[in-house]
Amino acid sequence: LYVIHIAAEMAPVAKVGGLGDVITGLSKALQRRGHLVEIVLPKYDCMQYNRIKDLRLLDMVLESYFDGRLFKNKIWVGTVEGLPVYFIEPHHPDKFFWRAQYYGEHDDFKRFSYFSRAALELLLRAGKRPDIIHCHDWQTAFIAPLYWDLYYPKGLNSARICFTCHNFEYQGTAPASDLASCGLDVDQLNRQDRLQDNSAYDRINPVKGAVVFSNIVTTVSPTYAQEVRRAEFLSSGALRLTSIGLQGGHGLHSTLNFHSKKFFGILNGIDTDVWNPTTDSFIKVQYNANDLEGKAENKDAIRRHLGLSSIVRKPLVGCITRLVPQKGIHLIRHAIYRTLELGGQFVLLGSSPIPHIQREFEGIANNFQSHDQVRLVLAYDESLSHWIYAGSDMLIIPSIFEPCGLTQMIAMQYGCIPIVRKTGGLNDSVFDVDDDTIPAELRNGYTFLTPDEQGLNNALERAFNHYINNPGGWQQLVQKVMDVDFSWETSATQYEDLYSKSVARARAVAA
Ligand code: ADP
Ligand code: GLC
Repeated sequence: LYVIHIAAEMAPVAKVGGLGDVITGLSKALQRRGHLVEIVLPKYDCMQYNRIKDLRLLDMVLESYFDGRLFKNKIWVGTVEGLPVYFIEPHHPDKFFWRAQYYGEHDDFKRFSYFSRAALELLLRAGKRPDIIHCHDWQTAFIAPLYWDLYYPKGLNSARICFTCHNFEYQGTAPASDLASCGLDVDQLNRQDRLQDNSAYDRINPVKGAVVFSNIVTTVSPTYAQEVRRAEFLSSGALRLTSIGLQGGHGLHSTLNFHSKKFFGILNGIDTDVWNPTTDSFIKVQYNANDLEGKAENKDAIRRHLGLSSIVRKPLVGCITRLVPQKGIHLIRHAIYRTLELGGQFVLLGSSPIPHIQREFEGIANNFQSHDQVRLVLAYDESLSHWIYAGSDMLIIPSIFEPCGLTQMIAMQYGCIPIVRKTGGLNDSVFDVDDDTIPAELRNGYTFLTPDEQGLNNALERAFNHYINNPGGWQQLVQKVMDVDFSWETSATQYEDLYSKSVARARAVAA
């Protein structure tokens, strides 16, 4: 198959969170399976250009429509992690991708609707005729209606559209009039209730549009796919009654239920070339499951590097995260203090796009500035993240909801035991050591359900008990989780299967 991903992130050149990891990991796995895979990205000024090989300008000027006129775009091509990537550089007075950051601009809707239209124009003009156009999240959700409404009639007609929503919290809604900028007939589309937001009728919702218009819709774990098909549970009574998930579909549950036949939950994998303690060049000492001395050396080194005491054997609890409400901010804060009370050490690596949360954590970081058991590093730091996975004994992920979550899988590759709330992809990848309803060979971490301090305390205390009172058992657990296969191979096969069936259906109809 010929697959083109159109996305806003790609690791390691343009990564904010897990979306970037997924674009690269899934593409590499599909390429290994013999498919032709290409990626289209905006050409951001703040990308890690040193990670792009052979970047060159193509001999073409792409003109694309926006706001009633045509704008010129330069097209660059380069190789990232062995994958061909096209970068679109618009010549627009608003300098859309010249902002020193990926998201969080007041005109994000304009920036990404412009990009989506230009990306389809690129495929049309460059004569690319993929079998699958795979778009991701609200930033490229516009691709689905644009394709069927404008580009299919223009002759870009070989493809089926797959849309993956990595997080239904972000839907990119905007006033209906804004969508006309990229050339869609909003009135006509709204009349058919295909793009209109379900709760604010004067707004359009790109994620809803993608769900309606795409041939295949996926999200990033089976449990999250069930959660988002439910209405939100807002009252505290309902919180207690719900078995999994709290958030529902953020207003899209009815749309997802209506389109349930084409909606699937596929658990992400991780890129085991990048996340591999036997080859990782970011960590102090490379190691494997049969040589845990190396892990102990990383722990000692990271403790010294961060100014934590390294004299006594104590559990080191890590947390690597975007600091946003989804991640259970109040529980992360609580975990720092509870870890101290239990006699452990805590290291947090994270940063927040939300100013008051960033300030709050800066306050906590300052309080612990010269403390020798707790360190908060409020930054985005790729190399430090590798080292913390390698040096920590446990990783805490108390998410309120989590579409998939990659940090629990990465942690396990490095022999770091996850402590997670049972929601979304965490529920599909972490199985409690003490839960004897689960086959023993699958048990790999600690889980809790209620998103409150008692819930978290219970899981954290059980993990500490195990670590302190049964070092031999703990070591076996560490060795076991390092052997779990979280590579992309299985999940890539599931995508391949969905792609192939969709292509076959289209061919059968055409025949
Ligand atoms: P999300 O995409 O919701 O942020 P995921 O668990 O899917 O959560 O993916 C997070 C990715 O971002 C992981 O690769 C994790 O290591 C990385 N990450 C998160 N915060 C930081 C940080 N402060 N510094 C470096 N890497 C980070
Ligand atoms: C989103 C989700 C996260 C998921 C990632 C990659 O950022 O918050 O749970 O792992 O996308 O799919």
